[in-house]
Amino acid sequence: MAQDIESTLIEKRVFPPSAEFARGAEVKSMDEYERLYARAAADLEGFWAEEARRLDWMQPFTEVLDESKAPFVRWFADGKLNISANCLDRHLAARADKPALVWIGEPGERRTLSYRELHTEVCKAANALTELGVGAGDRVAVYLPMIPELAISLLACARIGATHSVIFGGFSDTAIRDRVNDSSCKLIITADGGWRRGKIVPLKATVDAALEHGCPSVEKVLVVTRTRETVPMVEARDVRWETVVPLASAECPPVALEAEHPLFILYTSGTTGKPKGVVHSTGGYAVGAQYTTRLVFDLRDDDVYWCTADVGWVTGHSYVVYGPLMNGATTVMFEGAPDFPDKDRFWDIIEREKCTILYTAPTAIRAFMRWGDQFPERHDLSSLRLLGTVGEPINPEAWMWYRRVIGGDRCPIVDTWWQTETGAIMITPLPGATPTKPGSCTRPLPGIFADVVDKEGRSCGNNAGGYLVIRRPWPSMLRTVWGDAERYVKTYFSEIFVDGKALYFAGDGARRDEDGYFWVMGRIDDVLNVAGHRLGTMEIESALVGHVDVAEAAVVGRPDELKGQAVVAFVTLKSGRVASAAVKDALRAHVVKEIGALARPEEIRFTDALPKTRSGKIMRRLLKEIAAGGEVKGDVTTLEDVAVLNRLSAADEE
Ligand code: PRX
Repeated sequence: MAQDIESTLIEKRVFPPSAEFARGAEVKSMDEYERLYARAAADLEGFWAEEARRLDWMQPFTEVLDESKAPFVRWFADGKLNISANCLDRHLAARADKPALVWIGEPGERRTLSYRELHTEVCKAANALTELGVGAGDRVAVYLPMIPELAISLLACARIGATHSVIFGGFSDTAIRDRVNDSSCKLIITADGGWRRGKIVPLKATVDAALEHGCPSVEKVLVVTRTRETVPMVEARDVRWETVVPLASAECPPVALEAEHPLFILYTSGTTGKPKGVVHSTGGYAVGAQYTTRLVFDLRDDDVYWCTADVGWVTGHSYVVYGPLMNGATTVMFEGAPDFPDKDRFWDIIEREKCTILYTAPTAIRAFMRWGDQFPERHDLSSLRLLGTVGEPINPEAWMWYRRVIGGDRCPIVDTWWQTETGAIMITPLPGATPTKPGSCTRPLPGIFADVVDKEGRSCGNNAGGYLVIRRPWPSMLRTVWGDAERYVKTYFSEIFVDGKALYFAGDGARRDEDGYFWVMGRIDDVLNVAGHRLGTMEIESALVGHVDVAEAAVVGRPDELKGQAVVAFVTLKSGRVASAAVKDALRAHVVKEIGALARPEEIRFTDALPKTRSGKIMRRLLKEIAAGGEVKGDVTTLEDVAVLNRLSAADEE
């Protein structure tokens, strides 16, 4: 209770940007923000066309937005460009020697690549990929640790028009197989291993296991040497990066690609058992990533910008690689964990590299808070001028701690709301303009028409909870779900209609306060957000029921102080199987094998039946309440067997 009152008091506080920060920013006041917003509202196409013209086009576009086949939209469709040229070539005249990428390995190595050097590496890698048979329109899977070759691989694919599909290094061999097969990848780029908390993550071995399960489309595996562990190489299939890339020519003209050419696929969890391949375009995505990085992070030429996200997630795509490089920034990339070798690793990096911008996740901030102020206090963090958060709602206490302890009460915080599907930041403060409130992502960016609506698509009144929707298309929106256009429509454009037209809805609930500020409440579908990672409850359930002992499973989220949500599984065993700690361990291991360690259930509760409605739907709301340890409230008359519920409530962990 005391905590709640405190949160409410903090939420009511407002932090305007300092006059000094505002002076140097591109958008300097709320008046300017409102003007930009109104301009985009009055002329959406003109607004975005102007933004798009900041990029280098190999063939200028004459069309801006084509909505004739909505929700399948096209942006800048008759224009041609190459995003790698926008990240690299166009900076060579003015900033060839400026560091583009500053990389820090977990064991402590440091490597800097200037724009010129990164350009050379990307050209060589692009030529090597071509030699290995990859061309425009092919898919390339990337399963790498956070090393420079990861950024190089993305840009090399983009340079030749191959569509990349990055698979986060925490996913298992089964998860790799499913993703590789779904989009028929021709080649996989991986490494012998990566470093995580002093241990080697055996990436190549996991890829080998994935290929053993059967990935018929894969012709080659390109293996970067990172840890120098001996890894078996399969003849004719596996090729070492260092035997092809350094020898390749450094001349590689970028391919002129249509704006709608698919730049990348990124798999993300939804409400079914199968992850969706979210497809992003080249031109619209480039415009969105460039625009948001410039405005939200208020980038200046002398910034040292660090986004701590892994490139395995969309945040790493847009805000470690493409956004900062298109803007000619210096982007920092770190391979390891925040607590290795000690819990001050981030602060050590900020001090050494003199980082000016830090963009990280609320889960990390909550962990830092718990570890204690002594770790940041060991370091000089005065280089920082701007802080950001992404991936989940941030609780006001963590926001205040971040502001005070890391930001020295002087750095604005941008709490950025967006999704894999949106490609780029959507709702966020502009650091020189927007007065911030702890816990609110504030207002939509100019050009983004976000709203909170009811089922009928009517805007909700102040502080009334509803569905967070986007009313108009935006350039960096996803274009489809790979190989499943129907699923694209069904998932994102089938919930809320206005005048027969579907609004984009991707699963979040929100409210808007009297100042028009958005407060995102989190997912209202069956998607969990565990430590900022998105997981489908159905995906974990189907992994569990794939185990020989399991008859039925239901997975829900439980509020978790550190991770936001924790995975709780209710499991019914097949008759004759006996619940035990050993079975629990086996089930956990099975989920890790099927999906990856990030999906490991925190808690498994055995039950002899699951509560269901008469139509057979599992009553998740009740399970959520049980998982949270709360009392079961509300109407249970639709329950098939109330006794089941009572037994569940009473059942202890075993
Ligand atoms: O629920 C929202 C939450 O993360 C979801 C998107 O997850 P993903 O596609 O993995 O992308 C994460 C990085 C962009 C959203 O539907 N989310 C993201 N940012 C915020 C957030 N929730 C509240 N506040 C945020 N700033």
